[in-house]
Amino acid sequence: MTATDEAATGTLAAHTSSAQAAAEQDVTDRVLASFDGCTDTRLAELMAGLVRHLHAYIREVRLTEDEWNAAIRFLTDAGDITDDKRQEFILASDVLGASMQMIAVNNPTYGDATESTVFGPFFAEDAPRIELGGDVSGGASGQPCWVEGTVRDTDGNPVRGARVEVWEADDDGFYDAQYTDGRVAGRAWMETDADGGFRFWGLTPTPYPIPHDGPVGRLLAATGRSPVRPAHLHFMVTAPGLRTLVTHIFDADDPQLPIGDAVFGIKDSLVKKFEPQAPGAPAPDGRDLAGRTWARSRFDIVLAPEGM
Ligand code: BEZ
Ligand code: FE
Repeated sequence: MTATDEAATGTLAAHTSSAQAAAEQDVTDRVLASFDGCTDTRLAELMAGLVRHLHAYIREVRLTEDEWNAAIRFLTDAGDITDDKRQEFILASDVLGASMQMIAVNNPTYGDATESTVFGPFFAEDAPRIELGGDVSGGASGQPCWVEGTVRDTDGNPVRGARVEVWEADDDGFYDAQYTDGRVAGRAWMETDADGGFRFWGLTPTPYPIPHDGPVGRLLAATGRSPVRPAHLHFMVTAPGLRTLVTHIFDADDPQLPIGDAVFGIKDSLVKKFEPQAPGAPAPDGRDLAGRTWARSRFDIVLAPEGM
């Protein structure tokens, strides 16, 4: 859009004379032209789009220098607080809905394939392997929860040997990485059996706030937003020839669910019952729960073909 076009549509007319608009457009045009020599066409497209939208934003909101400095300070603070355990830039992407928009763009719906949702910052590569029916809690506190399901492709065939990774917070709302004692808890992976089945003991998920003691938390507070996520259990499922699925299941009875999710991750298809079980109710695998209450849930997963 040229300066004249923008003035004509009224985008800038309220704030700028046409001479001012032309001067502003000239800055954008000169920056765009600076990529003319870029031989990587995709990089040139990415940079041009970024410059166009960034300049349009600055011009549309009439950004002040104090506001620009505050934005630079936000990024600086995000860098300062980020380390191998804390990833403030992922949090920023999540609370701005950029993570969910990336998922929408890159994981189009396909048949009855299970929907994806936000990855979050707490996945770790080095989770222990468990046998089917094993315990992912690793001593993390919370109510035991039996979770079972199957992995199938979109033709309904069971997927044998799919890698099912699970991770979750304890009932204080913390992932193992948020403790400083190096514990590995609330995470594990297993492989599906010949019927595509998986099963494990986890913890009944509870709602918790995302880390909000940094710049992202200050942004949420300043905008009157809650840092809380509804109760959920994370999954990543991989199998050769099939699209990797990153998702969660949410507890249908969690009172936080209708209130919302700080990172916009809720999808109706991912809301599942976590059925409460009375103390002494026999466990599916005969486990002795010593009179404790427990819960059970089911999650049947369908993987899209790779590249779809
Ligand atoms: C999580 O569910 O672990 C999470 C997701 C986004 C931001 C922070 C935490
Ligand atoms: Fe989580």
